Amino acid sequence: FVVPFDPVAAEKGGFKHFMQKEIFEQPLAVSNTLLDRLPLDGGGVPLGLAFTDEELRSFQRITILACGTSRHAGLVGQFYLEQLARIGVEVDYGSEYRYRDPVVMADTLAIGITQSGETADTLAAMKEAAARGARGMAICNVQGSTAARLAEATLLTHAGPEIGVASTKAFTTQLVVLLLLALRLGEARGTLDPAVRAEIIQALRELPALLERVASTERKIHQWAQKWHEATDFLYLGRGPLYPIALEGALKLKELSYIHAEGYPAGEMKHGPIALIDRHLPIVAVMPRDAHREKVLSNLQEAAARDGRILALVEEGDTGLDHIAEDVLHLPKVNPWLAPILYVVPLQLLSYHIAVIRGCDVDQPRNLAKSVTVE
Ligand code: G6P
Repeated sequence: FVVPFDPVAAEKGGFKHFMQKEIFEQPLAVSNTLLDRLPLDGGGVPLGLAFTDEELRSFQRITILACGTSRHAGLVGQFYLEQLARIGVEVDYGSEYRYRDPVVMADTLAIGITQSGETADTLAAMKEAAARGARGMAICNVQGSTAARLAEATLLTHAGPEIGVASTKAFTTQLVVLLLLALRLGEARGTLDPAVRAEIIQALRELPALLERVASTERKIHQWAQKWHEATDFLYLGRGPLYPIALEGALKLKELSYIHAEGYPAGEMKHGPIALIDRHLPIVAVMPRDAHREKVLSNLQEAAARDGRILALVEEGDTGLDHIAEDVLHLPKVNPWLAPILYVVPLQLLSYHIAVIRGCDVDQPRNLAKSVTVE
């Protein structure tokens, strides 16, 4: 009697693909990333940064350098850092930064965000910033990686190994680390409203459980995938920190299913993409109950008036889109700061299931590499 044992299948832990497993590992990855990093009894956010409080106060500007999904994390981080630490942030592509003769002011902190820590363009951009006098930090998932060795300070995401080429749990843990960093900087710089700080910290404690609940939307997302997998183009819309999530949703769909997709800030729709809207175009809207909700709602009314077919992610109890959206998925109520982390999960699942239905190789999409170590 021989027990069949396939080591690769065993590593997938009962899931069909690494990507699916990694999507479902996000509650654990997030709780590992938060471990020992939430403040206790009146203390500060314990990040163990290699910079002193005085140095954290001295930074006048932050430049985030990254590629692909990691750059989308940087765009959410821009909201966190600007709003909580009141420091100007620019986000650039690793592949562009060093070719634009960048102006690096004194007291600039350059943060390279890279899951692998080995993306050639990001590393080159980090080196360029350092050569022009910026202080360097890395946010990465691999201890001892080149990015971690290059930077003066490193914040690790504890997502565990990510095998699927399309990044999922590395992305959500990058968002968690960026939020913690914004809190830490805000503390050092005295820019944090204590009530906001307390709310965010409490919400972070509850985040892994909320992510578990969101993962359970998979069955409904699978139905969406069955309905929409033949569409040839998708438009993703969001505003504020959900705009990068629209970009990320579109990127995931392109990477995995080879369907053309674009992400846009919803308010920018009227300056071009609106011309694309007809009854064949699925529009995926991410609309948590945050400060941008009313604006997104009116943008979507414009889209619906042009026969756009809307699939919406909204908060439980939000019926604002019921009469215009064709499909609505309700997500648990969440502190708005954490909405990007929660709302990206159904978008990951949607791309995954559409790709599987279309027979694509989700763990190794054509032409893509997990880590691009050449320019
Ligand atoms: C490749 C991967 C993407 C990833 C990007 C940046 O293109 O396919 O999923 O987002 O590299 O990778 P990094 O390791 O620097 O985060």
